Amino acid sequence: MANNLTYESKKLGVMYFTIAVVLFGAQLVMGLITAIQYIYPSFLFEIFDFSVARMVHINALVVWMLYAMIGSVYYLLPDETGIETVGIKMGKLAFYVLTVAVTVVVLVYIFIQVGSASESTIWLINEGREYIEAPRWADIGIVVVVLTFLWNVFATAIKGERTGIVTVIMADLLALAGLYLAGMFFTDNITVDQYWWWWVIHLWVEATWEVFVAALAAWGLIQIIGARRVVVEMWLWIEVAMLFGSGILGLGHHYFWIGTPEYWWEIGALFSALEPVPLVAMFVHVMYDWGKETGIKKGNGGKAMMTNSPAFAWFVANAFGNFLGAGIWGFFHTLPQVNIYTHGTQFTSAHGHLAFFGAYATILIGMFYMGVQGKNGIKEMKSTFSSKMAIFLTIFGVLGMTISLTVAGYGQVLVERAQMGATWEGYFVSQGFLWYTQSMGWRLAMGIVTFIGFIYLIVDLLSIGKSKIHTR
Ligand code: HEM
Ligand code: HEM
Ligand SMILES: [Fe+2]
Repeated sequence: MANNLTYESKKLGVMYFTIAVVLFGAQLVMGLITAIQYIYPSFLFEIFDFSVARMVHINALVVWMLYAMIGSVYYLLPDETGIETVGIKMGKLAFYVLTVAVTVVVLVYIFIQVGSASESTIWLINEGREYIEAPRWADIGIVVVVLTFLWNVFATAIKGERTGIVTVIMADLLALAGLYLAGMFFTDNITVDQYWWWWVIHLWVEATWEVFVAALAAWGLIQIIGARRVVVEMWLWIEVAMLFGSGILGLGHHYFWIGTPEYWWEIGALFSALEPVPLVAMFVHVMYDWGKETGIKKGNGGKAMMTNSPAFAWFVANAFGNFLGAGIWGFFHTLPQVNIYTHGTQFTSAHGHLAFFGAYATILIGMFYMGVQGKNGIKEMKSTFSSKMAIFLTIFGVLGMTISLTVAGYGQVLVERAQMGATWEGYFVSQGFLWYTQSMGWRLAMGIVTFIGFIYLIVDLLSIGKSKIHTR
């Protein structure tokens, strides 16, 4: 296939994107299997159990997003630094090593999960930490690969130009990678284990990943609509300050019921309630800038510039999605007075789906489109029918799943928690409650809608920009 990218770094970025899309597809298939098992518990029973499908679903989620993020950095680095990435050959080798390791881990997840556990299972099979279950041999491999990646980024930024966006990314990646280590050591005290485990997932999604996507959004706005660098970078710095401020102590909202001291109730309540503030600021900012002429460059013929409309649509979806999924759905259950009822119900899952999708899947899909644009050498990429179906159906599907799960969670709160006092019996009664069972049906239906949207996305990514209309 023709490749119009001149920088090796961008080519490597697209390689990362490709694997990310494949893993995204695998994630959705696993989600559909678990959703079917919710309704028909005997589906694939003892052939492919719920616990395994669920594990692959959420680990594939985290891994495809990390792939897409690494890909994004390699992709934007030449634009920001003005030079080819330093040590790109090593970067490519690391890519292959990582991809082989991920394949082995997924095969082990799928085929070897039943049997007794010992110290060696942590090393070879599974660490048992939700979202980051990779066995320790893979953990060590991941650390080596990530160190290579960090070296690439830092060496390039030191040699080339260093914009505000690159500076933020450098600091952020250091924190993001460092946090991974908190999920690597083993302790048999479950409270201590959970305490550190939350550092990885929570401080990723609510601090380092949020800062990362803010940097991507800044770069994207410059590339796509010609936003002025001073404006977007100023917002980026404000968001860095706010997200790190609220996100770090906001961690307390996961310490309410795991056996940590009670002062976490107040700390968690106050700071996590502040977390939506930067998300709202980001949202207001996008709404404010939209259609405004100030600070935005003009393209051909004095028209406002728009170089990649499908990517832009996904970037806009990100601003809305982050605000709704993390901001609104997160705030709903973040006060201990509320969380005591909602903790670990389908409500949590509703928030988990909308937040991961809205804040991360959206903008990373936007990056896939940026990659395709570069690869096919298109100046102005317009949305096709498939682009529109892809974005409409996936968003509609995920929103539909979120609403179903919220209704189911509401039923659990009323029946299991409020009415029956969170007893074992209450749990089972609520599982048979009409609101709950019907919602599980709707979740599956909306999951299928999401999946059809994904098929359109694949079709579009493979075909967009290859016909004549784009090459003007
Ligand atoms: C994009 C950012 C975010 C993502 C991707 C995200 C994702 C998640 C996920 C997946 C869980 C479930 C974890 C588990 O397996 O137990 C969770 C839990 C939680 N999230 Fe978020 N979240 C984000 C931001 C926020 C924000 C900003 C808030 C508060 C304003 C928040 C409040 C909570 C709370 C309170 C829980 C615990 C739920 C429970 O008690 O079961 N989240 N989040
Ligand atoms: C085809 C569409 C999908 C279906 C049918 C689906 C279904 C499911 C099911 C059944 C679970 C297990 C829930 C449980 O243990 O009670 C789950 C968990 C999860 N899924 Fe999905 N999913 C889909 C797409 C997605 C997408 C697009 C994302 C994010 C981008 C996502 C993120 C998550 C997360 C974070 C969890 C863990 C939630 C928690 O424990 O609170 N899923 N999903
Ligand atoms: Fe959190």
